[in-house]
Amino acid sequence: MSFRDRLAGRAEAIDAYLDDKLPRDGRVALTDAMRHAAGGGKRLRGFLVLESAALFGLPVAAALPAAGAIEAIHAYSLVHDDLPSMDDDDLRRGLPTVHVKWDEATAVLAGDALQSFAFGLLASEAAHPDPAVRVALIASLAKAAGAEGMVLGQALDIAAETAGRALGLDEITALQAGKTGALIGWAAEAGAVLAGEDPAPLGRYAAALGLAFQIADDILDVEGDETKTGKRLGKDEGAGKATFVSHLGLDGAKARAAALVAEAEAALDGFGDRGEILRDAARFVIEREL
Ligand code: IPE
Ligand code: IPE
Ligand code: MG
Ligand code: MG
Ligand code: MG
Repeated sequence: MSFRDRLAGRAEAIDAYLDDKLPRDGRVALTDAMRHAAGGGKRLRGFLVLESAALFGLPVAAALPAAGAIEAIHAYSLVHDDLPSMDDDDLRRGLPTVHVKWDEATAVLAGDALQSFAFGLLASEAAHPDPAVRVALIASLAKAAGAEGMVLGQALDIAAETAGRALGLDEITALQAGKTGALIGWAAEAGAVLAGEDPAPLGRYAAALGLAFQIADDILDVEGDETKTGKRLGKDEGAGKATFVSHLGLDGAKARAAALVAEAEAALDGFGDRGEILRDAARFVIEREL
């Protein structure tokens, strides 16, 4: 089976899981907006949860709550990222963004509720039979998503727009490690946590992969195709975003991303052939067109 078929198969399982678990309440737009935001996407973070779990022999069903949780957090981050006060985008996953389809209040609230929903999934007994493992996942996701992780990265990203100076490479690396790397890191380590194994090699893998992923996103912003990405492109430079492309240029950014993918692959050496799917994922991250 090709990597893309495997990714599509995992995405289908995650879509079905979220469709089953997301709330429905006909009184307000909120739950329709949550479903709209949580639908679609490549499901790369959920895929990393399922595949890191599979690395240790865990079946898909045992890892689906964690995969659903990280995709719900990611969806919330996108809804808020697209708000007029943030990146001001009208298109996401080929469809109107939540604040365009409904309104800003609904987008803020749908993002909030997706975040709460994610932690609820991890707290449920289905996430893991041992409550200590559930708490560990909840605590690590709180850290990855919040003011030390994704939200910090987003705050640094917005601050860079008006900093009046170009950020250095270390600052850009820290920014991207937060806004994108933290959730990807949690996803890759979750399988080891669920299996009671050491997450450190997967953490090293994900640190390189997450950075490569965001560099690829920044490259797609310059030379991607909107009909494939399903989101507006060509916006980062005008917005004054601090990216590897703004710092190293396109060729420099591509070389850096390729080096990071090699680093990610090498982090899985200890797993031998079992690590091949995750190595494929690392290569996919910089070859993707969406
Ligand atoms: C987009 O993430 C936002 C970034 C962190 C760069 P993805 O490219 O994974 O978006 P979806 O989930 O496939 O829509
Ligand atoms: C978004 O980064 C990262 C998060 C949502 C945390 P970008 O702003 O570059 O993502 P896109 O390009 O809008 O998908
Ligand atoms: Mg942004
Ligand atoms: Mg954005
Ligand atoms: Mg982007």
